[in-house]
Amino acid sequence: MTEKPTVAFAKFAAPKKGSVIVLAPEGGGLTDAAEACDPAGILPRVFAAAEFKGKLAASVEALAPQGPGYDRLVAIGTGKTDSLNEQAWLQIGGAAAAAAKNATEVTVVADIAGVTPTARNIASIGLGILLRAYSFEKYKTRKNNNDGTPSKAKSVKFTIQCADPAAARRAFAQAEAVADGVYLARDLVNEPANVLGPVEFAAQAKELEKLGVEVEILTEKEMRKLGMNALLGVAQGSFRPPRLAVMRWNGGKAREKPVAFIGKGVVFDTGGISIKPAANMEDMKGDMAGAAAVTGLMRALAARKAKANVVGMIGLVENMPDGNAQRPGDIVTSMSGQTIEIINTDAEGRLVLADMLWHCKEKYQPQFMINLATLTGAILVALGNSYAGLFSNDDQLSERLSAAGNATGERVWRMPLGPEYDKLIDTKNADMKNTGGRNAGSITAAQFLKRFVDDTPWAHLDVAGTAMASPSSDINQSWASGFGVRLLDRLVADHYEG
Ligand code: BES
Ligand code: MN
Ligand code: ZN
Repeated sequence: MTEKPTVAFAKFAAPKKGSVIVLAPEGGGLTDAAEACDPAGILPRVFAAAEFKGKLAASVEALAPQGPGYDRLVAIGTGKTDSLNEQAWLQIGGAAAAAAKNATEVTVVADIAGVTPTARNIASIGLGILLRAYSFEKYKTRKNNNDGTPSKAKSVKFTIQCADPAAARRAFAQAEAVADGVYLARDLVNEPANVLGPVEFAAQAKELEKLGVEVEILTEKEMRKLGMNALLGVAQGSFRPPRLAVMRWNGGKAREKPVAFIGKGVVFDTGGISIKPAANMEDMKGDMAGAAAVTGLMRALAARKAKANVVGMIGLVENMPDGNAQRPGDIVTSMSGQTIEIINTDAEGRLVLADMLWHCKEKYQPQFMINLATLTGAILVALGNSYAGLFSNDDQLSERLSAAGNATGERVWRMPLGPEYDKLIDTKNADMKNTGGRNAGSITAAQFLKRFVDDTPWAHLDVAGTAMASPSSDINQSWASGFGVRLLDRLVADHYEG
């Protein structure tokens, strides 16, 4: 589906056309509302013939059922009703969007035997539909793929039938704001680097002014004045100048300290002079996924008018090899005054973040800082695609992040920090070096960042494994996942509003 589907809500009523989706629990029957969609009573036989057992997000369809006027009758499994948590509702929505295929009008009968879904549950189905329906098709110019399937789908209208449509509509308005943030983050990550350079990315951030976000864009000159030489060293090999965007959403009390989110925005990471091997280098267009998540998060918070004061800061640079590029052995003085010996120009993300963390802490004195970065390949070795690495100097913040992760499904796994690891980035030539050797690569990267946060409660999320090259799931079919938007929106909603 190319366009974002529309999701509407209505009371139960036997639908007259389009595709109809009913929900079938594992080991349980159908409700009256579902059976009303199946006047000929074919579903039990369809289930038996397809060996459909109602497993979560499984589906079965009957084409052109006799009697009613619609094209398809689909059943989606909900799993066992006692394990229907938030993620299950999202997956049900995802499965509904998948089952819609090329239909343009879909009715979901959100009624499950033995369950009374809340408005939030219904909204989660809607959110699951939106997340699953996302695809990045702007560069598909042909109508059909080679196998004849349409390369672009039409826009789809979903109507979710439920007991209290008005309450569901209210809950869904919040969820849709979050979905729009995820869409934005995914779009930014999927966009190729020839189209999305630092200047273009900054312009996208600026767009958020329409939603009431204050956006300030710093140019190279302004960053030089601030002394951001670590960030600028990364940018100096690129023809395209760097930008730093600061997005502020002031939805909280006037004097309340803000919370701050900081994103690595390397629009393309060649590795610089320490150049990367060719294989899979194209993936490095996604090395701005941290910045994309922060931008998507700010969009979500503004759209749902979050009652919090929030700073979003993104450092936008391109890491290129060039006659003017930074060299291994160079020593730069960061904004904090600490000096850094560059051992490997491919360890650039931490250099960009170092100056941002320092600047953010000094200028905004936030309650906490959370940075997101596709920082190390080593986090993929440690955790794969299922968890982001969490590094923090604050137990409460860590616990809150873990809880938000478990609730939303954007999970994080805490990794250690400690003086033993910190030692690994000491060097004779400067205050520190930018790499710590082969072992514990994700941890030494985090130790490096920690040297720029002082006592501010801080967490670093290494999203190299979770934000891009994502395995397809019930709620994401795209290369970019938008990881972080839902996680951090939940963190703010649960602990930092009102
Ligand atoms: N952007 C990469 C990390 C990365 C790798 C992200 C794979 C997504 C997928 C980062 O800038 C990088 O190059 N890190 C190096 C650090 C090393 C030179 C210490 C790495 O992980 O190899
Ligand atoms: Mn790199
Ligand atoms: Zn990088």
